[in-house]
Amino acid sequence: MEKTNENTVTQAIGVFDSGLGGISVLKELAELMPNENYIYYGDSYYAPYGTKSKEEIIDRCIQICDYFINKKVKAIVIACNTATSAAVSILRDKYKPLPIIGMEPALKPAAHDKKNNNIVVMATSLTLNEEKFNDLMKKYSDINNIIKMPCPDLVSIVENDMLQDTALIERTLLKYYSEIDINKLDSVVLGCTHFVFFKEHLQKMLDKKTRIIDGNKGTARHLKDILDNDGKLNKVNEGAKGGEITFLNSYKDERHIELSKILFNFQ
Ligand code: DGL
Repeated sequence: MEKTNENTVTQAIGVFDSGLGGISVLKELAELMPNENYIYYGDSYYAPYGTKSKEEIIDRCIQICDYFINKKVKAIVIACNTATSAAVSILRDKYKPLPIIGMEPALKPAAHDKKNNNIVVMATSLTLNEEKFNDLMKKYSDINNIIKMPCPDLVSIVENDMLQDTALIERTLLKYYSEIDINKLDSVVLGCTHFVFFKEHLQKMLDKKTRIIDGNKGTARHLKDILDNDGKLNKVNEGAKGGEITFLNSYKDERHIELSKILFNFQ
């Protein structure tokens, strides 16, 4: 275990996503660990990842992580289920022993709830078609009816700054749920970080009893435990300075940085 020192605790945490969805994860990280420094990299120029090949995604992930390594980050959070499915094992191998936290649809808490029989998993096509997710799904499919729901239009709404367009959002959600009997739906798993921005709209459309589950808080807690165990957590009472968030985007324009900040303060 490495010794705690000012240098390791104040090193930034690199957080990235195919675009702006991972900001919903960054928000949880900053809420749980407000003293940390974060560098958020949104790969909006190359978004969406959900319809790309694994090779293309791996290539983008390596470029972003190389950048983080140059910035001497103390950990990386892949704030993207799709990038995690495609690249997490390769990245962990390549950047060992740096902690790399990935994300996957939080199917387990949904499936373990005894009341849950009908579960919708909203995610990208890549995530839903990957072996990793299908293995996870097999574990629970005897007792649960699990419906896969790819929702690419929701990614575009976030990336194109259309979250204020309630009519468009409602139309889009209704389209995706047109075949689902929402009265019989127990849980919805948000398996894409972009979709967390639609939680309120979804809750309005679904039955009040339907649980909407995302993995953002769990991811933040997981990273905190890892940093704490390694003595790298930037604790308030240690007096280490921190709390800076730097937003970067592959579009390299002010508009995407502005939009990132708006999304960080969303809701
Ligand atoms: N935010 C990403 C995820 O969690 C995917 C969005 C995309 O298709 O780029 O899976």
